[in-house]
Amino acid sequence: MEDFDPQQKLRSDLKDFSSYSAHTSPDFMKKKFGLNIEEIIKLDANENPYGCSGQVVNSIKDGGSFSVYPDAAQSELRSELSLYTSMPSDCIACGAGSDQLIDLIIRLTINPGDEIIILPPTFGMYAFYAKLSRASIIEVGRDEKFCFNCDDVLNRITPRTRIIFLANPNNPTGNLVPKADIQALLDSGIIVVVDEAYFEFSRETVVPWVERYDNLIVLRTFSKWAGLAGLRVGYGIFPQYIAEYIMRIKDPYAINVCAQNAAIASLRDKDNLLQKVENIVYERERLFGRLCALEGLTPFPSKANYILCRLHDGRALRLTEQLKERGILVRYFNTPALKDYFRISVGRPEQNDIVVESIREILGEDTQW
Ligand SMILES: Cc1ncc(COP(=O)(O)O)c(C=O)c1O
Repeated sequence: MEDFDPQQKLRSDLKDFSSYSAHTSPDFMKKKFGLNIEEIIKLDANENPYGCSGQVVNSIKDGGSFSVYPDAAQSELRSELSLYTSMPSDCIACGAGSDQLIDLIIRLTINPGDEIIILPPTFGMYAFYAKLSRASIIEVGRDEKFCFNCDDVLNRITPRTRIIFLANPNNPTGNLVPKADIQALLDSGIIVVVDEAYFEFSRETVVPWVERYDNLIVLRTFSKWAGLAGLRVGYGIFPQYIAEYIMRIKDPYAINVCAQNAAIASLRDKDNLLQKVENIVYERERLFGRLCALEGLTPFPSKANYILCRLHDGRALRLTEQLKERGILVRYFNTPALKDYFRISVGRPEQNDIVVESIREILGEDTQW
């Protein structure tokens, strides 16, 4: 057989496409360190340390037949979300995680070569889906406190700019965007996607503005506050004309029966879930205080359920590896915008104590630092 060249059959611009660097899997931990899932302190993916609502399991057991396709119109879920957000249900569309909505928004607006603006360091999936859709990615940097200058963004707008992505609070830095900046960007007329994946932890939102601005999209998810990361449910609040298009182009059965039932059950049990969120917010502040007291490391204040840290002598990789050997997973970053940082998701109180003590021991013990 002649030499087979996959490049002749596939898109050449995807040759060097790198996959999203996902969290460490429990399976890897088992194989590499012999640790079972319950022995791992998993603080690398901003998941909910308390899991999902007890009502979710009941809803999956009682919630209809798995042999029938899910409701493509997402009617019940959208009407529950309408109650939760106080927005009309025809402005709401749901996806298999807010990731899927990021993809759909880009596909809906981008012709090859059009531009999207992102503000690194930020959530990696904006650039991921932009590249898949052949968008040009315009990066506007942030200062040492991870704030960006609104004029820098406005100055980069061209006739080909289609979307500005703002994570609010930003992942992984944890800081909020001032509302005046969001307003100034909206006034440019370009579609602004405000990603409020961590809204329940920050309580800051621009959802009511969607009624005023026909270029504002707000994204939310059930992955964090409701502990449904594994079931993949996210939603967006859109100007009605965009919601209509999203509903048209989405995979009809994007959200499976279990996931729709689970999301509805979570909304009906929101008081319990939001109590857990309050515990996490309390723990976030306690963890931040304890990290501040450690020598050799700077934690950054956060309005989400994670804390970004910088090691003064730049050995974050070594620290994350040593934590991993102890069964503690945190997220390491080494990108142009974040050299040698790591992010800790806020866990349960006892998990946070173990992480802090382990960091203290590792930093103290390691004479090569
Ligand atoms: C800012 C931000 N947006 C979106 C997502 C994706 O959420 P989902 O699990 O709903 O796809 C995440 C997940 O970490 C995130 O941090």
